[in-house]
Amino acid sequence: MRILVLGGTGWLSHEIAVTAVARQHAVTCVARRADIPDGARSVSADRDRDDALASVATEHWDAVIDVARQPGHVRRAVRDLAPVVDRYLFVSTASVYADHAIPGADESAERLSPLAAEVMNGLEDYGAAKVAGEDAVLAGFGTERTLIVRPGLIGGPGDPTGRTDYWPWRFAHPAVQGAVLVPEAPELPTSVIDVRDLAAWLVSCAERSVVGVFNAQGPAVPFPEHLDVARQAAVSDARPVSAPGGWLLERGVNEWAGPRSLPLWLADPSWYGMNTRSTDRARAAGLTTRPLIDTLRDALAWRELQPDSINRGAGLTDAEERELLAALAGPAA
Ligand SMILES: NC(=O)c1ccc[n+]([C@@H]2O[C@H](COP(=O)([O-])OP(=O)(O)OC[C@H]3O[C@@H](n4cnc5c(N)ncnc54)[C@H](OP(=O)(O)O)[C@@H]3O)[C@@H](O)[C@H]2O)c1
Repeated sequence: MRILVLGGTGWLSHEIAVTAVARQHAVTCVARRADIPDGARSVSADRDRDDALASVATEHWDAVIDVARQPGHVRRAVRDLAPVVDRYLFVSTASVYADHAIPGADESAERLSPLAAEVMNGLEDYGAAKVAGEDAVLAGFGTERTLIVRPGLIGGPGDPTGRTDYWPWRFAHPAVQGAVLVPEAPELPTSVIDVRDLAAWLVSCAERSVVGVFNAQGPAVPFPEHLDVARQAAVSDARPVSAPGGWLLERGVNEWAGPRSLPLWLADPSWYGMNTRSTDRARAAGLTTRPLIDTLRDALAWRELQPDSINRGAGLTDAEERELLAALAGPAA
């Protein structure tokens, strides 16, 4: 197949291109940078420009796979590619949904209103921007030629956010001998879809002309179990030391992601449905996911090889971890 990847230099889109090349497809990647996988062809373009896709719009493509976040990027790609591309595969997000409280919700759940602007103001527009992207693709390609995939948290080797490698890394490198600070969240469901499983399924959907709208998440795993799998992946005998959520929030510890955070933690139960969306439709269409321990083990192995392994982008620093564990133990400790 002739596959056009809009991206190819980042994380998921790079993995998609790697997978498609490995399956003997003719792959062209469009991005500003050129560090695309061996065996793919690079077209340098800045999608902020109106004519970014002019050169590739002169060729026929069996499928385009797009990971864009900006509505303008998607609208212009649809405008330019609808005449020359058979099918449009758009990587959207579970953040398009208006409500994250209901466990097991399927793809018919209500979405946010689409962002009218061409460019997001900030991350607060992310879900609405992706809704706008979905709508643009459906308007230009129709339901018969459109695949929309809404992943939950993507994880594994190469995670640029540092979220999914944090827990195995922390268990492998406790800042305090034998102890790892964790939030008390016994009911919190987590879910991680391995970047390699998602990429493999997307390419196989292109091969099989699968169309429709699909949630794509890993199985829901209770947070304490996720932490135990991370501990096993790290082959660590450190024990988790739980701190109440309110206590952590009072001390400026962030949920979910970013600096001074405990990654994947959600304090507010009205977000718990985000990690338990129904993936029945995707699984019926061939999505398979590897065991969580494989994802976390490989994420840790990758992170250990990075020169900036101390600057992870998410989680607590050693100093923050030591300070918080000492405060939790109290003055007598
Ligand atoms: N991470 C998660 O947990 C998660 C969860 C749900 C959904 N998603 C979705 O999954 C997708 C993949 O995310 P990712 O972070 O892994 O993305 P990624 O593959 O790193 O994709 C970004 C790509 O877009 C290209 N790009 C960005 N701006 C561009 C521009 N102005 N002109 C041309 N190319 C441009 C980048 O190339 P250059 O920089 O070289 O131009 C890069 O190749 C996204 O659609 C995201 O919304 C992610």
